[in-house]
Amino acid sequence: MCGIVGYTGSREAYPVILKGLKRLEYRGYDSSGVALINNGLKVYKKKGKVAELEESVIGKDLHAHVGIGHTRWATHGEPSDRNAHPHVSNSGQLAMIHNGIIENYVPIKNDLLKKGYTFSSDTDTEVLLNFIEDIKKNNNCTLEEALRIALKRIVGAYCILLVAADDPETIIAARKGSPLVIGIGKGEHFLASDASPIIEYTKEVVYVNDYEIAIVRPDELILKNLGNEKQTPFITKLDMELAAIEKGGYDHFMIKEIHEQPDTIHDCLRGRLLAEHGQIVMSGIEDHLEALTQAQRIVIVACGTSWHAGLIAEYMIEELCRIPVEVEYASEFRYRNPIIHKGDVIIAISQSGETADTLVALEKAKEQGAFIFGVVNAVCSSIARISHAGAYTHAGPEIGVASTKAFTGQLAVLAMMALKIGYSKGTLSHERYLQLINELNAIPEKVKEILQDTSHIQAIATKYKDAHDFLFLGRGYNFPVALEGALKLKEISYIHAEGYPAAEMKHGPIALVDENLPVLFVATKDSYYEKIVSNVQEIKARKGKVIAVATSGDTVIPSMANDTIFVPDTDEVIAPLLSVIPLQLLSYYVGIAKGIDVDKPRNLAKSVTVE
Ligand code: F6R
Repeated sequence: MCGIVGYTGSREAYPVILKGLKRLEYRGYDSSGVALINNGLKVYKKKGKVAELEESVIGKDLHAHVGIGHTRWATHGEPSDRNAHPHVSNSGQLAMIHNGIIENYVPIKNDLLKKGYTFSSDTDTEVLLNFIEDIKKNNNCTLEEALRIALKRIVGAYCILLVAADDPETIIAARKGSPLVIGIGKGEHFLASDASPIIEYTKEVVYVNDYEIAIVRPDELILKNLGNEKQTPFITKLDMELAAIEKGGYDHFMIKEIHEQPDTIHDCLRGRLLAEHGQIVMSGIEDHLEALTQAQRIVIVACGTSWHAGLIAEYMIEELCRIPVEVEYASEFRYRNPIIHKGDVIIAISQSGETADTLVALEKAKEQGAFIFGVVNAVCSSIARISHAGAYTHAGPEIGVASTKAFTGQLAVLAMMALKIGYSKGTLSHERYLQLINELNAIPEKVKEILQDTSHIQAIATKYKDAHDFLFLGRGYNFPVALEGALKLKEISYIHAEGYPAAEMKHGPIALVDENLPVLFVATKDSYYEKIVSNVQEIKARKGKVIAVATSGDTVIPSMANDTIFVPDTDEVIAPLLSVIPLQLLSYYVGIAKGIDVDKPRNLAKSVTVE
């Protein structure tokens, strides 16, 4: 969702910004633009892809050493050239880009209209920009001061970069709720929504905090709070290589990330799951063992794929730790005045660590005294920082919009957590603890086995690519996997798909079944196996087309299914780490067969930083 890039230094700003915008394309957007300062402001913007912006500026004067660029994901106003950022103030002297939403922009706009201001876009951003300009004029103050006054009066979330025509060195930035990273170079600074546009220039970065303003010049980075007090920038070293954000020979990031899973799961387990010692070492848990083992209730808060990981964690934690678990959509939790008791533990699950709904839900829970444990992929992200404790998933940057490797990373962390807490609490026997440690340790090799030859899955995808609807069914630990399979297919192929607990099908969805409906069963060998065999029969009896994910060596399910994809055997507690892989591949190949841009499917954003 909206990407922000800024540069000030001795290089040509435009190529740095353009490359940065391309690196941020994965976040999802519908228009882009740049503002450059050199003898006044030059602003170029265009609906569509960054490549279209690039083409539209050929032959234009692009020379400048300071500039800002933006990819916009429409909120206020349709995707169009005029709604694209940067916006320019009425005087023509200021340009601004913004990620987030200004909730009280309507009354501010009405006041400005009464004062004679005009607007050339439908955006809340242009309102905020002219509001800043108006304050500057009326108070005869600096731009920085005007920004500070404006930010105290607005309601909403923002990351903004602001430049002035008469200052060819300075970018003023501010954030609340939307991420901002500043890369520190030699006599230059890079600003961006995440580290991907920065990584090839420097590994030293500062993550700007909420309610901070940054005044950035080639040789200077000043951080202040909204009270105008200087803050000490905390410099972090990026632990990321450029290769991690490039396709590395694959056609798409999504397939690269699917194939990375043996390594990413291994990285997640490394140093934590010590199979040879029969031990799990997780400092985030050990440091807070009492809060976690004594929890009266665990509430898991997340969105989308991360919410599905939460559902699987519910099964794991209730079974292994005997602690009641509730899994909440963050967007519902944050608004429904939830009851939070002292002693409740909130587990937040997020790949990006920036999802607005999850972040606000956590802020609310924290205010009410809950202990927050973050299971996050993006290092130093907002959710990681707001959590009292946590464990990173260590899946590396996930660029494909559809979450794949982050999901299996989340499952690996959550499994280790459940094992560790259950064993410490005494609800999990030593024998079972060791058994599950060994099973988990074997997962990366088993994922590798599934990925060795995917041609069969590709053939199934080709066979069903023209289906209008899909049903995904599973039971127990594989029920959330069915939900995840349906979500993945929807996102990447635009085929309507629904996930259900297999037994629930009889209570309604079975009415959809006919000879045209593909029904995918996640039917690996577990304690629900006999039951799901009956469910498959019920679909077959109604002529549905059955695709099954089954355990290698099983002969019963394949004898009933039209198509079967085998996965290696494992313990049912961690079976989702294997059974989800064919579903990721199936949706990828269906998307490809339909000619869809699987890394950037329509309307979706990678990091959903607005509610
Ligand atoms: C689906 C997907 C989304 C995210 C959701 C939460 O493939 O990627 O459903 O899972 O937007 O995002 P995070 O995990 O970043 O909080």
